Amino acid sequence: MTKAPEISSPPNVIAEIAAALAGRVSPATPVRCAEPLAKRTTLRVGGPADLFVEPASDEDLAAAVRFCGEQRLEFFVLGRGSNLLVRDGGFRGVVISLASPHFSRVTVDGERLRCGAGAKLKEVSAAAKRTELGGLEFLEGIPGSVGGALRMNAGAMGGATFDFVESVRVMDVSGLICELSRRAIEVEYRSCPLFKTHIALGAVFHGQPAPRAEIEAKLNEFNRKRWEVQPAKPSAGCTFKNPSKEIPAGKLVDELGLKGARVGGALVSAEHGNFIVNDGGATAADVLRLIEIIRQHAQAERGINLETEVEIIGED
Ligand code: EPU
Repeated sequence: MTKAPEISSPPNVIAEIAAALAGRVSPATPVRCAEPLAKRTTLRVGGPADLFVEPASDEDLAAAVRFCGEQRLEFFVLGRGSNLLVRDGGFRGVVISLASPHFSRVTVDGERLRCGAGAKLKEVSAAAKRTELGGLEFLEGIPGSVGGALRMNAGAMGGATFDFVESVRVMDVSGLICELSRRAIEVEYRSCPLFKTHIALGAVFHGQPAPRAEIEAKLNEFNRKRWEVQPAKPSAGCTFKNPSKEIPAGKLVDELGLKGARVGGALVSAEHGNFIVNDGGATAADVLRLIEIIRQHAQAERGINLETEVEIIGED
């Protein structure tokens, strides 16, 4: 993605850039200045985006991306904000949301589901159930979008997104679109490097025909498991990746005795050690400080380098 120039632009300059961007997209695509981002994340902390755009079509998305390139503006593609921590100073650049109906469709095609990047994973899982396609039940409880799940190869309950992907539609920074088959895509635990340079527009998922009752039983089991161990308060999901071949991050935090540790409104969940919840009035700085404390303890006491799974953007 393009690196931003030093922008500490006054509001009138940002308004001029917004007007120029609005002139490049269709009237169906809203462009806004100083858009609050906290309400667009599940953790509910962080400052505003200088510019915010919600493209209504592929063409408008391509125009916005090209505009960012020309103006040397950094951009960030926002999904459902479920694995995202925005710093308190907000984001200097353009946040591109793929929540418009154009990018949020889920259509059934035999044993395949064609899903836009903005579609909620819950909707993908619901469509799979309606169509009696098994395998995608694990997506139900992940509070994210298809684009976010692709970008981080999201997983739960033993399943990972790319296990069920047949192909992915992507756009590069010049606005060109192509479709890539699963075989052509390198995938890692909680990461897919392709999306460092490309925007996910959607994916084709495949399932296995299965009786509806079997799918429903799995959905219920996963739901029950999740509510038993994961907190209901606002969070960004798991804070850290599980360190490879070692101990799961949640168990480690638990063993370090850090459940219940607090900085301001940020609290290590008592239910699951890998969740930091917003216990009311948390700031991004509270959450970041708590992350640092956990990392320091893991390093000092167990020699383990915990890496964040949560994506962190913006400035302090
Ligand atoms: N555990 C503890 N104490 C804790 C938390 C966990 O002892 O406070 C133990 C559990 O008893 C279990 C082990 O640690 O033996 C692993 O815990 P869990 O089954 O909850 O799985 P996890 O590895 O912590 C992963 C994903 C979750 C996903 C769950 C359920 C990662 C980083 N996390 O968690 O994904 O929901 O499996 O399948 O891979 C996310 O990515 O945001 C996320 C929530």
